[in-house]
Amino acid sequence: MSKFDFAPMPDASGFFGEYGGQIIPPELKVIMDDINDAYEEIRQLPGFQQELAELFADYVGRPSPIFHAARLSEQLGGAQLYLKREDLNHTGAHKINHCLGEALLAKHMGKTKVIAETGAGQHGVALATACALVGIPCEIHMGQVDIEKEHPNVTKMKILGCKLVPVTRGTATLKDAVDSAFEEYLKNPQEYIYAIGSVVGPHPFPKMVRDFQSIIGTEARQQFQNKHNQLPDYVTACVGGGSNAMGMFTAFLDDDGVELVGVEPAGKGLDTKDHSATLTLGKPSELHGMKCYVLETEDGEPMPVHSIASGLDYPGVGPQHSYLKDLGRAQYDSVTDEECLNAFMTLSRVEGIIPALESAHAVAWAMRKAPTLGKDQKILINLSGRGDKDADYVSEKLGL
Ligand SMILES: Cc1ncc(COP(=O)(O)O)c(C=O)c1O
Repeated sequence: MSKFDFAPMPDASGFFGEYGGQIIPPELKVIMDDINDAYEEIRQLPGFQQELAELFADYVGRPSPIFHAARLSEQLGGAQLYLKREDLNHTGAHKINHCLGEALLAKHMGKTKVIAETGAGQHGVALATACALVGIPCEIHMGQVDIEKEHPNVTKMKILGCKLVPVTRGTATLKDAVDSAFEEYLKNPQEYIYAIGSVVGPHPFPKMVRDFQSIIGTEARQQFQNKHNQLPDYVTACVGGGSNAMGMFTAFLDDDGVELVGVEPAGKGLDTKDHSATLTLGKPSELHGMKCYVLETEDGEPMPVHSIASGLDYPGVGPQHSYLKDLGRAQYDSVTDEECLNAFMTLSRVEGIIPALESAHAVAWAMRKAPTLGKDQKILINLSGRGDKDADYVSEKLGL
């Protein structure tokens, strides 16, 4: 039996321990409760489960395989590295898993518009894709800085027919995009739905997004058992808001022998202000309708954060990660932009797999850890997305 007592999480009010909840005005709480009721109803319907399972198989291409990165493991001279290939999903990342769920829920609830923010553009592309499939108008808010950096995804969102809203306020990155999208949503929350892009925001989003993403860990655990007749020693994933990590960790929570490691962006260094290592250096506070760890300035405002990976520069983090950190069930470490770039190039050249800059954070952590472990140890890395979107940016930065 596990030494951790995991009652079904979150509780009925959306709390993971002290984190999560609904820190929103009463009018909005009514709307969020409606979404929760609709979600709880729809998830029980065999028809919904079957529709989602078929889309996962025939549209997304699930199950995503696990690949043994044998050459890289050999080079590092320690533990064996395995990659859960979410980068092979339709649209190139894990985000499609929850976007299909959210789009189907929006259709079920009769919503007329789906609104969301995006950082790297992966959530935006995945949501625009799911909305095209389901036939619902979609509006995506994106920081101007990210628009310039993630051009291929911007073009794809336009081709897919969504309305793209550039956000120029603040640092013109992910947090500002969330604020802008939320304002649009508040104009008509009865008719619209805000399809949050990670395991963040008010209840029920951290629960709902986690549930849709948990297919990653469910598959990976089974695949690992079938192939190796054992579980991995370490399971690692990058953490922005935390959806790919939560999707991977959930199936392993009761497996005490499996160490769970979330990897945050240390950016230009933890001793600078240019990072986004929320669980490493933040403290419990409130952001975007939830209680969670937050990076704040001295006057209590969310800190302007930085990461080379646009999908990781968020000053908050999912409430369940906040809880897992306090419990000690998951560890949170960080890697710098430089280590991330090195992992990006190494995985590309040694294994022929170009990872997303976000995912390269988890690869970088594993590359640091592997040489300290024995050759019989196994690290499972969630390769949350592919690096096509980052290729031009990296080649320009490195002068290739
Ligand atoms: C490929 C990829 N991985 C990870 C993330 C970070 O999000 P999360 O922490 O919710 O998985 C993003 C966000 O855009 C992403 O595009």
